[in-house]
Formats: sequence, structure tokens, C-alpha cells
Amino acid sequence: MHESYCDERQSLVDITRRLVDLNTSGTTDSADQPVRMATSIYCDENLFEKEKKEIFLREPQLVCFSSDLPEKGSYLCFDDLDIPMILVRDNSGQVRAFLNACSHRNARLREGCGVSKHLTCPYHAWRFSLEGNLESVYKAETFGEIDPEKYGLTQLPAEEKYGLVYICPDPDGKINIDDQLGEMASLFDSWNLGSMTLIDTHEFDMQSNWKLALDTFCEGYHFSPLHRESVGDYALGNISAFDCFGPSGINHRLAFPNKWLTELSGKPESEWGDANEIFKNFQLVHYLYPNVSLLISPDACEFFRIYPGKRVGEHVTRYSCYYRGHVPLETKEQRQEAQDHFNFIVKVVADEDYWVSGNLQKNMNTGLRTVTTFGRNEPALINMHTGIAAKLNVDVSAST
Ligand code: FES
Ligand SMILES: [Fe+2]
Repeated sequence: MHESYCDERQSLVDITRRLVDLNTSGTTDSADQPVRMATSIYCDENLFEKEKKEIFLREPQLVCFSSDLPEKGSYLCFDDLDIPMILVRDNSGQVRAFLNACSHRNARLREGCGVSKHLTCPYHAWRFSLEGNLESVYKAETFGEIDPEKYGLTQLPAEEKYGLVYICPDPDGKINIDDQLGEMASLFDSWNLGSMTLIDTHEFDMQSNWKLALDTFCEGYHFSPLHRESVGDYALGNISAFDCFGPSGINHRLAFPNKWLTELSGKPESEWGDANEIFKNFQLVHYLYPNVSLLISPDACEFFRIYPGKRVGEHVTRYSCYYRGHVPLETKEQRQEAQDHFNFIVKVVADEDYWVSGNLQKNMNTGLRTVTTFGRNEPALINMHTGIAAKLNVDVSAST
């Protein structure tokens, strides 16, 4: 038996046991106290500018999976921050991130994604290696001596581990994926997230603040009322097992039980089946600071990256759905099933979660509602907003 399989099963058993016990006792993992925060966390332009500058342009963040850069020469443009980037898998297999700018007169090198042996600038054809070195200059004699050392691409920090690719937009920033994942690292390792198959992507361009979008992934209190006919049809509402991990516990994981988990009550753990069967009893939703919600299930991975828009009440969510099932996606029916799953998630998020985020934003923009309250049953929200506020060194408590 493979070692990570054993670890994964035991980790999943532990989560299941906690959920069974919470359900039996009619409770949920909870914060010590309800918390009241100022609604300005979603509406204040100055805070928003500070978030963009001090978080999104400074902190390490998960941008894609290893399978999005599948071979040497694979490249992927990344334009969701104010720094245009290109991610490249170089000739040694290492992932690198560069400013997507030529060293001659700063033209953009590539669009979209693809595979290329070199990066040749479309403007005047200067050519760069996948390692970012200047290889050749068109009509070089007009430039006299060019020191290739001074004319490489501008590199930014990037790290790849456990199938995750993190970048840091700050050239002097440091990334350590093991630190980011903390005690969750071995479980992430067991999931083979680097070899998933992309099903489809969707962009949500919303009139709501980026943190409001994240909020919808951070509690199960709303499952029964808001998602009555979708998620609420199979999930037990208002029960979650909550864990923090990573630097200062800023990341979190929520396990949301499915209704059939109740059948395990009274059944010995040895009869709960293998890791895959146990995993079918709940949804695991991770918040990875600063802007990612990552849902892992036995067959799929839902990857939501949430970026601030131009103004405080706007954001863009990029959703990528990956297949990670044990059976290869070969037949038309299998592919259709995966596509149906993707379509279902898009519909739930658009028509239910983000419909709510949009109307919350409008109400808070009036300035007539100055307080937002998080219940004891919403510990992940409290943890996330407190963590972000601590990073920015701002007080977000409600004044009244
Ligand atoms: S700007 Fe790239 S070659 Fe001129
Ligand atoms: Fe939801």
C-alpha cells in the first residue's frame, strides 16, 4: 500500500469522525465570540488601494497548477495583477516567472498560453531563452556592444511544489510553499494536484468587492436557505470542521458534510472504505491567502482565484475546474459528466452566491449599514478578515 494513501485515509477518517460527532451533538466548530466588523472593509477606497499595493503586489500567491505548464517551453501569461507576467517552464523543467516585457523597449513578449523553444519579441525580434537570457539581437551591429547580463528578462520569484505554482510579484519577495501549507502539506502531496485535467474555465466579472466573493466560500450557514435546491440538496447546512494552517494560521480549511455522512454514525471506522469512499462524505474547501478558494473532492478540483477590480466594489473571479478522478476521461459520456459538473458550479456561483454578493455590495455602498456581523458559527470568516486586517495593520472592528 502506498504511504501517502495511508496518510490520506487517516486524515480523511479524522475529518469524518469530527463531522459525525458534530452532527450527533447538533453543533459546529465555532469561534469564541460573534464578531462585528465595519462594512468599510468592502467599501473603503483607501483600504482597497492599500490591499492592492500591500497584498496583491507584494505577497506570494497561487496562480496555477503544474499541469497548466505541462512541458519544457510551456508558457502562460498572467495579467490579473498590475504587473503583466509570463510563466515559463524552462529547459531544465523549472517554472520561472518574468515580467512579460522585452529588454529592448519593453514590448509584451507573448499572449495567452502555448509552447515555444524561445521567447522572441514581436516588435523587433530580440530573442530570449526560456531561462530569460538574451540570445540574439536582430541587426545587432546598430547597437554596438550589448552586455547580455544587463539585457535578460526581469525575473520574479516563482516556486512549484505539490503540483502548485506560486508566484510573488515583488522581485525581492520570498516564497516557501511548505510554509504556506504548514501541516496540510502532506495531505496536499497525496492529492497529485500536478497531474489534473483541465475541464473548463469561466470568468465572473462582478460588481462586488473581492472579499465578499471569498466570503461565500467560507461558511455553510447559508447552504440550506440560499442553496435549497442546489448544494443544500446534498449538504448538511451549518456544520463544518474548521482548521487553520500556514503562516500565523491565515489559511483555513472547512469540511462540509454531505447528508449521507449520517449513515456512518455507529459504524466502525474500519468499515468506512478506502480514502476515495470516505472522501465522498464531505466537501473540503480551502482558503489560501490572499485570494484563492480551492475545493478538493475525489473527482474534481474547483480553483477560484479572486482579484480586485478597478474600483473597491468590483472584482474578477477566475474559475478553473479540473478533473482528478481515478478513471481516465475517455468516453463522450465521461466528458459530458465532467462538463455538467462544471456548468452546475458556474450556475450555483452566478445565480446564488454571487447574486447575493452583488446585492450586499449595493446595500453597503449606501453607507446606511455600517456593521456586518459574523456569528460564532462562522469562524473561517472571522479568521480570514482578521488575518487580512493584521497583514495591513488596520483596525476593522465596528465602531458602534
Ligand atoms: S521591444 Fe522587443 S525587440 Fe524591440
Ligand atoms: Fe454558497
